[in-house]
Amino acid sequence: MIKKISIIGAGAVGSTLAFTVLERIPPQTLVLIDIAVGLAKGIALDLEDTRGHLNFTTALIGTNSYQELKDSDIIILTAGAARREGMTRADLIKINATVAREASQKIKELAPAAIVIVITNPLDVITYIVSQETGFDRKRILGMGSSLDTSRLKNILHLATGASTLSLEALVYGIHSKDMIVSDARIKIEGKSIHSKLKDNELKLALSAVQLRGAEIVGHLKTKSAHFAPAVSCCSLLEAIINDKNEIIPVSVLLKGEYGLSGICMGVPCTINRNGADKIIELELTATEKEEVKKAKELFSQCMMSQ
Ligand code: NAI
Repeated sequence: MIKKISIIGAGAVGSTLAFTVLERIPPQTLVLIDIAVGLAKGIALDLEDTRGHLNFTTALIGTNSYQELKDSDIIILTAGAARREGMTRADLIKINATVAREASQKIKELAPAAIVIVITNPLDVITYIVSQETGFDRKRILGMGSSLDTSRLKNILHLATGASTLSLEALVYGIHSKDMIVSDARIKIEGKSIHSKLKDNELKLALSAVQLRGAEIVGHLKTKSAHFAPAVSCCSLLEAIINDKNEIIPVSVLLKGEYGLSGICMGVPCTINRNGADKIIELELTATEKEEVKKAKELFSQCMMSQ
C-alpha cells in the first residue's frame, strides 16, 4: 500500500480525484490541501464517511496548511483557477503560474522525493514551471492532459462506430489545448485503420469533437469545467505508478531533444512505473504530425510569454 498521497486543491477535480483514489487505490494517508478555509476539511470529513461502505483504512487529512505535504510519496497539483465559458486554458496562466510557483517551493522543501502529477492548466506550461521550480528529475514531474484527451477520443470513436473502447488503439498527444495532436495515423480499430470504419468527413468531425470537448463541457457548465474524466484519468496514472505497471500512457514531460524539441513540456507517450515517467517513447511521425509538433512548440512559447 502506498504511504502518502497529497492533493493540492480540493475543488471539483481535487475532491473527485480524492474519492476515486479512495475507491481504487486507498493509501495509508490521503491529504487534501486548499487555500479556502474549511473547504479541504469539510471534503475530507465527507469522504471519511464513505468508510462504512468502502472499508478503507486510510487516514484522511483536510487542511489549508501546506505543512501536511511533508514526506508525501505522490503529490497532485489541482490548485488554481479553472476556465469558465468563453475562456481558453491559456487564459489561466497569470493566476495559475503564481499558484504553481508557491506550491513548488513547498513541495521541494517538504517532500523532496515525491513524484508530482500536475493537472492545473495551462497544463504543459504549469508542468514546465513545476519542473523548473522544484528542480526534480524530469521523470518525477508528469502533466496529466493527453491521457484525458485520449480517453475522450476513445469515447467519441465508440459513439461514432459502436466499437468497444477495448478494441481501439488510440493516442492523443501534444499540447493540452484545442491544438492537441489527434492524428488518424494513431488510431486503429480492431487492428485495422480507422478509415475502414469511418468516412473521411465522419472522421474529421470525430477528431475535431475531441479537440473541442473540454470547451463543449465548459459551455454547458458555464462556471466550471470537467472533473469526473480528469479525476479518473489521473487515478489511472496513479495506478500505473503505484503498481509499477510499465504502462504506456501519454503525459506531459520536459523534453530534452526528443521529437526535436528541448526546454518545453508536451504530452508524449511514456512508460509509467514506480519511477514516474521512466522512459519517453519516440514515435515515428508522419509528415503532417511533424508539422503539428513544430506548431506545438510555438503554442508553448506563446503561453510561456503571456505570464
Ligand atoms: P476549482 O476552482 O473547482 O478548484 C480549484 C481549487 O484550488 C479551489 O478550491 C481553490 O480554492 C484552490 N486554490 C486556489 N489557489 C490555491 C493555492 N494557492 N493553494 C491551494 N489551493 C488553492 O477548479 P477545478 O475544476 O478543480 O480545476 C482545477 C485546475 O485543473 C484548473 O486549473 C483546471 O483548468 C485544471 N484542469 C485540468 C485538466 C487537465 O486535463 N489537465 C482537466 C480539468 C481541469
